[in-house]
Amino acid sequence: MAQVMIIGGDVPADLVARLEAEHDIGYGTHADLRSATPHEGIAAAEAMVLIGQPTIDEAVLQRAPRLKVIALRAVGYDKVDLDACARRGVVVCNTPDVLSRAVADLTVGLLLGALRQLRRGVDHASDGWSQGAPKPPLGSDLRGKTVGIVGFGSIGREVARTCAAGFGMRIAYTSRSGPSTSADFPGPGWLPFEDLLALSDVISLHVPLTPETWHLMDEHAFSQMKAGAYLVNTSRGGLVDEPALIAALRAGHLAGAALDVLANEPPDSDNPLLRMDNVLVTPHIGSATVETRRAMAHLAVDNVLRVLTGAPPATPVTT
Ligand code: DGY
Repeated sequence: MAQVMIIGGDVPADLVARLEAEHDIGYGTHADLRSATPHEGIAAAEAMVLIGQPTIDEAVLQRAPRLKVIALRAVGYDKVDLDACARRGVVVCNTPDVLSRAVADLTVGLLLGALRQLRRGVDHASDGWSQGAPKPPLGSDLRGKTVGIVGFGSIGREVARTCAAGFGMRIAYTSRSGPSTSADFPGPGWLPFEDLLALSDVISLHVPLTPETWHLMDEHAFSQMKAGAYLVNTSRGGLVDEPALIAALRAGHLAGAALDVLANEPPDSDNPLLRMDNVLVTPHIGSATVETRRAMAHLAVDNVLRVLTGAPPATPVTT
């Protein structure tokens, strides 16, 4: 029997039961990973299921010397020091694909909300819907607009499918692997990043956060965007230089933004993006549906069970 720690949240009871049938289960918090007093369960852990986005670095790994596998209940692994894990022989697994539809759905919801001035509409209604108060400005149709998708993995493609089939949008995309032969959408298709920025009415980000993509959307990138365009980000806050975004919004160069992720989560309460009436912010809920979170937890538990029996994990992180 190995010690398996569930850190930072819960997984459905029947999935815990699958683990419990073969292993000892313990629970901990993100803070326990770094606590000055060693946490007994973490010190003994051979496997961890991580809920949320705690940083995993050498200091954490030192507190868990028996660790064999970290199963993220997440697709993103930007907070995990993969080199440190590799040095210690710790396998890292994530949960790709099972959340693509849910994240794409929220992306399209935010895109629709941004173009239709949802925040200003909701504010107007909750302020009393008064005849005297200025009405929210008119929104824009989605039909015929071009969405520029940055990153054409499974989430980016789902966004493209929904925007094209559901809303009659034109699709532009950029991707590390170049033009895709299977992408058959109306619109310009693959474009270099600069051209995508210049041509798109909405930019939607779907690349992972890496040293190369950090602040991908900086002052220069915003200046290259079409005047009156929108930014949607459901990937990682670090992709966006927030002061540069705020400046582009305040200058009126961008019409609005919709963000499920921010540079700091939770954000500082004085982050201006939380107060701007042309910015929709949601609290990192891209994968937050009952069905999707269950599928993610299922895959994370599978990965733990497989590694602890010496089998290869279903979805190891590979770089
Ligand atoms: C992920 O899976 O990386 C999401 O951002 C977490 O909700």
